Amino acid sequence: MPRWMETRDDATLANAASTLFRSYFSEDPEGVWAAPGRVNVIGDHVDYAGGISIPFALKANTAIALRRSGQPTYRVVSLAPGQHEASRVEIPINEVGPGSPDNWAGYVVGAIWAAIEAGVIPCAEGLDMAIVSDVPVGSGLSSSAALECSAALGSLELATGRSASEAERTALVDACIRAENEVVGASTGGLDQRASLFGQEGKALVIDFQEGSTTLVPFDLSGHGLALLIADTNAPHALNDGQYASRRGVIDDVTAAMGAQTLREVDNAVVRAASWANAEGRDAEVTCKRVKHVVEETDRTAEAAKALERDDLNTFAKLMRDSHESLRDQYEVVTPELESVFQTVGSRGSRMTGGGFGGSVITIVAEDEVAALAERIAQAAEAQGFPEPSFMVATPGAGARRLV
Ligand code: GLA
Repeated sequence: MPRWMETRDDATLANAASTLFRSYFSEDPEGVWAAPGRVNVIGDHVDYAGGISIPFALKANTAIALRRSGQPTYRVVSLAPGQHEASRVEIPINEVGPGSPDNWAGYVVGAIWAAIEAGVIPCAEGLDMAIVSDVPVGSGLSSSAALECSAALGSLELATGRSASEAERTALVDACIRAENEVVGASTGGLDQRASLFGQEGKALVIDFQEGSTTLVPFDLSGHGLALLIADTNAPHALNDGQYASRRGVIDDVTAAMGAQTLREVDNAVVRAASWANAEGRDAEVTCKRVKHVVEETDRTAEAAKALERDDLNTFAKLMRDSHESLRDQYEVVTPELESVFQTVGSRGSRMTGGGFGGSVITIVAEDEVAALAERIAQAAEAQGFPEPSFMVATPGAGARRLV
């Protein structure tokens, strides 16, 4: 039997966060907030280059119960999916900043720190926090953004006593990116935080990072008798281990050498990157492959957005496969575990999702074939001695919000 990921509804998740809060802090929380993980349907490794991505918010959320403590510290207790004993971190407010804390709590208190620095959260105050989550860690489904966005939105709304405006949410996206870049040391690009804070039930987001625009589009596969199956290979990845930064570094270097703000602004980017790499004594072949992926993936995602608009899922599926192949052959972020899933699903619309180097593969499959396909994927993994995958059928859920 394939292993399915657990996704609790809002009331159950809020209750779990409140219960954890009470058991550690012996008081009731003042409120509970949630932020979802995301799946990126197409457009990977382009957000930091001014490209286009089409993610949606998952129905798997991270919930945070909060209470102002009146102390000069943050006390955080957290239960990640599958964890039986909670992890605890206590840190004085004035010790939070670049590189500190250098553990998972950096996502949580780092996001609050960056939002205070940006003036979005009016002032620093001590907080007790209890976190529970259904977003699997290291699966390419943005468990880190779910941590950041729930903590940042919760602290903001607790401090102001009202719902965050759209402008405040936009500012929180930037604060969460800063936390990830400076506190945690992962040079990620902003796709995840935008999806988590701006997702909507039933909708995917077409995010144009050059324009800074987000357009919500209907994403209803079940209207076609189809489903989006996520297969988490359980071959974990980390985005602060240097691999992600090495890919981004090439794109940032080429962009800077061309005197541009983003790679998207550069005409003939592949040819010009090759001349630059040769002149600089860099590996021209690798440079061209990386740049080619980013340029083509952005064009492909623009085409995918148009295909979605005219409900043309055949074209959309083909673009997904092209995207996976480019991430594998040009960007080289696909592991054998990811490739095994991609090969097992045959000619269906399928691709790795997120940063790669491990994580998940998504596949568009007929609703009545989901169970059989999950079984086949699990068997293929077992036959190759890979970890047992876990599965989720994903439909677009709500963005970050107050639960209680
Ligand atoms: C990770 C990063 C994002 C994005 C994706 C790849 O999820 O956090 O910013 O770069 O990888 O598209």
